[in-house]
Amino acid sequence: MRKAGITVAVLFAATGALAGGRDLSIAIGKALFERAWVPAPSSTLANDGLGPLFNARACSACHQGLDRAARIPDGQGGFTHQGTVVKLSDADGRHDPSYGGQLQTASIPGFEPEGRITMTDAGAGVGDLSFGPMADETRAGLRAAPALRGLGLLAAVPEEAVLANADPDDRNGDGISGRPNWIASPDGSHRLGRFGLKASGVSLAAQTELAFAMDLGMSTLGQPALAGDCLNETCRAAPHGGTLTEPEIRHDLVAMLADYLANVPPPESMTTLEGEKLFAAAGCASCHVPSLPSSHGEVRAFSDLLLHDLGDSLDGGATEPGVAPTEWRTAPLWGMSRAIAAKSGLLHDGRAAGVAEAIALHGGEASAARARYDAMKDTDRAALVRYVEGL
Ligand code: HEC
Ligand code: HEC
Repeated sequence: MRKAGITVAVLFAATGALAGGRDLSIAIGKALFERAWVPAPSSTLANDGLGPLFNARACSACHQGLDRAARIPDGQGGFTHQGTVVKLSDADGRHDPSYGGQLQTASIPGFEPEGRITMTDAGAGVGDLSFGPMADETRAGLRAAPALRGLGLLAAVPEEAVLANADPDDRNGDGISGRPNWIASPDGSHRLGRFGLKASGVSLAAQTELAFAMDLGMSTLGQPALAGDCLNETCRAAPHGGTLTEPEIRHDLVAMLADYLANVPPPESMTTLEGEKLFAAAGCASCHVPSLPSSHGEVRAFSDLLLHDLGDSLDGGATEPGVAPTEWRTAPLWGMSRAIAAKSGLLHDGRAAGVAEAIALHGGEASAARARYDAMKDTDRAALVRYVEGL
């Protein structure tokens, strides 16, 4: 069978699923999420085509149990994370000319990985670079893998409901100017970005295709580069498992993966009336909007899915086109209790050990909310933190 990538028949056997239609698609999607891909040999296309550069062999290696990973102390006062990557770009989101948009820290046999992530007091950096220095303008930015729960609900929030909270020019003068991240489609139309830490993913399928390209080095219809995020001649010439007309991962498989993720239920949150009041009084709810409407009912994600500038202390180094390095999608707070229980760090790079530390790093548009929190009496501050920890 000369087919690039894996066939549905093989996965059908792997999942043992006998149910039809939707359930089967979700079961196959789950198997794909957990599957450890392997490199393509140079002699044949009939293989997966991992790499030549990659960060992990499976989605689930970074998104373990669909939750955020725990912080792993590095023995020098710092920490690392399973599933952490380093993004690369200049201040305007242009990728490094030879290392691309992400540092790949693993490679197939016979090839050098691009380099490794270094952690110092000054933050994350890159070391042992294989292809010479990066461009002077390139900035490195650490990103922790987020939890993947309830994403189907975020997908189901109508655009108008997100736009209703946008106030890009801060007309109401509250210092908060959330704005949507419009992403251009090849046909010239624009779609609302809602996934990823910079809200640049328009759908779960598009986000999945990006993950195949950046994290696993595999091509899809939407991300057809056969060598993934590799730009230099050496790794472009490496073996891979696909052709331009037949990508390594067929689109029906991408769709099943997206279908699986769309059906993972949201985390359960514990809310209290007292906490809710304090959350609103401090102004947290202006960005962490407790409830959005959707075709599947109320979405209690505690996010407006908009971009906000949180100031220099949350400058993420690398960024994406049209999004400042200090701008982030409001992090959904549902699942906070799971993140706290797993001892995973908070914020985009996992640097905050807990909720209070995360609030202390809120600047820019969130300065006023942080100041209101700081001005609360001790018992209220503690109650507010407990409330967020229970979400
Ligand atoms: C090397 C680690 C790694 C691997 C492997 C990986 N991811 Fe991710 N994933 C991340 C990181 C880091 C982010 C946040 C990136 C960002 O937005 O800057 C992310 C973000 C996402 C998001 C967006 C979540 C949200 O809240 O909007 C989805 C969906 C996702 N990944 C799915 C996948 C799928 C599907 C695969 C496998 C095909 C995969 N990931 C493989 C690290 C990884
Ligand atoms: C101006 C909008 C805005 C306001 C106001 C705001 N936040 Fe945030 N919050 C964000 C954004 C954007 C992020 C993501 C920042 C990052 O990842 O670096 C975030 C991240 C967080 C996180 C970390 C979540 C995670 O998944 O790691 C917590 C906890 C949090 N906020 C709590 C609060 C609390 C409590 C308040 C009120 C005192 C508040 N925020 C006010 C926009 C806001």
